[in-house]
Amino acid sequence: MSDAVQTPQTFPTRIFSGIQPSGGLTLGNYLGALKRFVEKQDEGIETIYCLVDMHAITVWQDPEKLRQQTREAAAGFIAAGIDPARSILFNQSQVTAHVELAWIFNCIARMGWMSRMTQWKDKTAGKDAEAASLGLFAYPSLMAADILAYKATHVPVGEDQKQHLELCRDIAIKFNNDYKVNFFPVVEPVIEGAATRVMSLRDGTKKMSKSDPSDQSRINLTDDADTISKKIRKAKTDMDPLPDNVAGLKDRPEARNLVNIYAALAGHTAAQVVQDYAGAQFGTFKPALADLAVAKLSPITSEMSRLMKDPAEIDRIIGEGAARADAIARPIVDQVYDIIGMIRSRQV
Ligand code: AMP
Ligand code: TRP
Repeated sequence: MSDAVQTPQTFPTRIFSGIQPSGGLTLGNYLGALKRFVEKQDEGIETIYCLVDMHAITVWQDPEKLRQQTREAAAGFIAAGIDPARSILFNQSQVTAHVELAWIFNCIARMGWMSRMTQWKDKTAGKDAEAASLGLFAYPSLMAADILAYKATHVPVGEDQKQHLELCRDIAIKFNNDYKVNFFPVVEPVIEGAATRVMSLRDGTKKMSKSDPSDQSRINLTDDADTISKKIRKAKTDMDPLPDNVAGLKDRPEARNLVNIYAALAGHTAAQVVQDYAGAQFGTFKPALADLAVAKLSPITSEMSRLMKDPAEIDRIIGEGAARADAIARPIVDQVYDIIGMIRSRQV
């Protein structure tokens, strides 16, 4: 490895992560991301969380809905336990350092790197890739800019974002090497817990997603107790009872998914859950899971709807977060301009 290659240890620990406000938050977002964002904050680490509205518009967004969903996502973060005094919470478009750095990264990253992204391939599979937006193709470059504008070292995400984070590492390494600097950290993905990949309730081989056309496939953080309970009771399963060890869940994607959801909500391992429910039929397990999900999620959903009654207060909170984010990112991006040879002589 060349001297220019950094390890995150040489940079102070700083956590950054983002969520697209392109639809309501799901149980997948909660278990794969939000719940862990809160844990990191509560460990006392510096945490920066961003509602990535600029990423959202890589596919069409109705303006009024986008505004509504951005506020809803902010409310979801706060309701789930993000404290805007301890974490920085803001929407991406209010801090222009992100797009400025993204352009520079567009000139560092290679076309080949982007075309190898499985998310790009999946999103354009069977469709006319020529008709996809240029922004969708360059999406990972903006994501790298989100992270590196803060020199963040650790990024908690779900499994689906692993490849994008590898690309962020590649961009940091290439920038450092091209300009012979030790400027950007090489970030560490933080993919941990029992539910880094929550699957659809209708098809255990597909990710639970806010963009799935079937509302039955997911639990939304805006669903009421009755809806959550019904969706779990109707979730697709097989006919067999639960095994007494995790190996027995192999080739049973729906059963495995429900066990993982239970484990993540209860704060147990999947192994503990199958031990507790060894031999149980879904007729027993599903109601137990439904009760657990309602108990864990309904305080969040009710707090979210309370917060949504005061949109001006939400806007105030994310505006304040944006000012704090800008204070960190601005000097970093200004240094980048200097490193790459841009003249910055304008008087302000
Ligand atoms: P997105 O909703 O695509 O912006 O994702 C925001 C965060 O939630 C990312 O860290 C994702 O990895 C995570 N996430 C989204 N869907 C799931 C899922 N079904 N299971 C686990 N994590 C997820
Ligand atoms: N691409 C991420 C997703 O869809 C969202 C995201 C954008 C993000 N920028 C980020 C996640 C920076 C972590 C860090 O899930």
